[in-house]
Amino acid sequence: MKKSDYIIEVKNLRKKFKENMAVADISFKVKTGEVFAFLGPNGAGKSTTIKILTTLLKPTEGSVHLNGFNVLKDKAKARKSFGIVFQDQSLDIDLTAYENMYFHATLYKIPKADRLEKIKKLMEMVDLWEKRKQIVKKFSGGMKRRLEIARGLLHHPEILFLDEPTLGLDPQTRQHIWQYIMNLNKSEALTIFFSTHYLDEVEKIADKVAIIDQGKIIDIGTVKEIKERNQTLTLEEAFIKLTGKNMRQEEGDNLAVVKQYLRKR
Ligand SMILES: Nc1ncnc2c1ncn2[C@@H]1O[C@H](COP(=O)(O)OP(=O)(O)OP(=O)(O)O)[C@@H](O)[C@H]1O
Ligand SMILES: [Mg+2]
Repeated sequence: MKKSDYIIEVKNLRKKFKENMAVADISFKVKTGEVFAFLGPNGAGKSTTIKILTTLLKPTEGSVHLNGFNVLKDKAKARKSFGIVFQDQSLDIDLTAYENMYFHATLYKIPKADRLEKIKKLMEMVDLWEKRKQIVKKFSGGMKRRLEIARGLLHHPEILFLDEPTLGLDPQTRQHIWQYIMNLNKSEALTIFFSTHYLDEVEKIADKVAIIDQGKIIDIGTVKEIKERNQTLTLEEAFIKLTGKNMRQEEGDNLAVVKQYLRKR
């Protein structure tokens, strides 16, 4: 059988928590090497979807294939295909940066002889090798994120999932983090799947975006396609038109500007 051109295939996915339909019948495909964004407000279902895709949660219905492997039936093989950076920090802050990497290498059964070299290469890539002996507790938010990215790549995955990788970071750190990720996307053809509520990240970085709200994908395509389809000049306007809401409280000022603009037209 010819391997699919799509490294991620999601069909009719649903997840119900008691009466709450957190993910309500979503389907989409991601091509190998693509940078794919999940854009949605708080509670839209981004993390739930990512958890299902990365085998941490079981769906109520539907199927997910990663690299051709069904995440329910071929869990171990599917798991080898991806690395993940979680929304909530998941490092052991009482260990050093190096120990965090080493522990992960053990979990993924990376041969002992290769560990040091792999860890060094990745820590150098995110400019943390010099800081390897520091306790993670003393790291800044940006350093922790960089370490998580390096850790997620240790077993040489083909897909990197990032759940709001730059949340709460300052603009300069956000830009650095994206530089590392985009270099990997270009040099290793690593497929990137990330969720965000930053519209500028989607506009600058994503090849394709799915706008998600209340567990449903309400539009999907390139930023250009979405703007054309919704007859808007910006992605933000399209987002507001589609969802009737702003991304988050902190972007309230932007919303006021957009509303003013819409009123004038
Ligand atoms: N373990 C759980 N048990 C019950 N309900 C849950 C659970 N996890 C998520 N939910 C609910 O599912 C919905 C989607 O949540 P999810 O965390 O996927 O949203 P999100 O898009 O990641 O939001 P955020 O931007 O705040 O991270 C929400 O209504 C949430 O309360
Ligand atoms: Mg989330």
